[in-house]
Amino acid sequence: MIPTIDADRLWQSIMDIAAIGPTPEGGSCRLALTAEDAAARALFLRWCQTLGLHHEQDAIGNMFLRRAGTDAAAAAVAFGSHLDTVPTGGRFDGIAGVLAGLEVLRALDDAGIRTRAPLELVNWMNEEGSRFRPAMMGSRVAAGELPLEAALATTDDHGVSVARALLDSGQAGPLTPAPRDWSAWLELHIEQGPVMEATGAEIGIVVGTMHARYFQLTVTGEPSHVGPTEMNRRHDSLAAVAEVILAVEQIGLSGEPYGRASAGWIENVPNARGNVPHITRLHCDVRHNSANAAIAMEASLRQALADIALRRGVRIDVDPYATFGPIVFDTGLGALLRQKAADRQLSTRDMIAAAGHDSVLMAPLVPSAMLFVPSVAGITHNPKEYSTKDQVARGAQVLLDAVLELAGV
Ligand code: GLV
Ligand code: MN
Ligand code: MN
Repeated sequence: MIPTIDADRLWQSIMDIAAIGPTPEGGSCRLALTAEDAAARALFLRWCQTLGLHHEQDAIGNMFLRRAGTDAAAAAVAFGSHLDTVPTGGRFDGIAGVLAGLEVLRALDDAGIRTRAPLELVNWMNEEGSRFRPAMMGSRVAAGELPLEAALATTDDHGVSVARALLDSGQAGPLTPAPRDWSAWLELHIEQGPVMEATGAEIGIVVGTMHARYFQLTVTGEPSHVGPTEMNRRHDSLAAVAEVILAVEQIGLSGEPYGRASAGWIENVPNARGNVPHITRLHCDVRHNSANAAIAMEASLRQALADIALRRGVRIDVDPYATFGPIVFDTGLGALLRQKAADRQLSTRDMIAAAGHDSVLMAPLVPSAMLFVPSVAGITHNPKEYSTKDQVARGAQVLLDAVLELAGV
């Protein structure tokens, strides 16, 4: 029997997870290690246990669900993504990849197929980085790119550490985070952009990613009173950051079509009416298809910061706290995905991922590849984020076909 994705079952699972942490506009909010994230993980784990998968969890909260193969010595074929969301999350970013992986295993069960190599389904912890920075935290720690202790000590905006949140949500596992014994890593993800829809591609073969550079800026001015302090005597950190944000936007605009520059998080001290702000922190990132262009964008940012600091008499400290990419994914796995899509009469298009993904951390360790399914109107990190049942199912079928070939029977 040829194993076949059950589109309705996959869709229903996506909707069941979406119902955890629902937002009024039809999206989901499950920030990493919140009660909502823990509830989604628990439901996912129940489904996995129904399939008899062996569950392991590491100390940073990454979940590994293993289906035994007939050759116990063989390295596993691994796949998955993430169940956490941003505050304005949709229903598909990350979730489609984890649940497509689950559907792969369900379809293999239905077909009565046991693969030669073991299969391992993964839910990475805190891919989004919305609550705790940096993004892709779980896979970064597992890959050895971020020390476990540093990740555990990271705090959210309320001073809650990752270590505390892992304990409170019951997600701290016993395993030491480390690279796993895998022969290949695959991740299905929604495109999160408009290109596939515009070009009619059904499966995106992700050949690589952009290069991104993330910064925390701390602007330090001088506290003063908003009344008596004349305008020309102020060293207003928030007003300086207002200029920084516009400079960041300008740097992104001048890097088009492949450049992006964004500032999405701000903290202002004392954030009180009556006070001229004197400490403002900003998180921003620059990214580009070309690493050299991203580095040049950083240079432009640093020049703008120096100008603003000098003109306003404030200090600006730059903490370049993370980077990702550029990654070139495994060409053999890319060819396999392209072939499996063609075998199903599905059209493909080679893509570069502009968003961060856990696959970026896996690529240096194990042959890795990603496949995209279309995003309606390219909308993402938004409750309107949408891919159709058939679009997701087609991607899951290609994933299944590739996994089956890699793992053998
Ligand atoms: C995270 O996913 C990012 O792209 O910054
Ligand atoms: Mn994602
Ligand atoms: Mn995301």
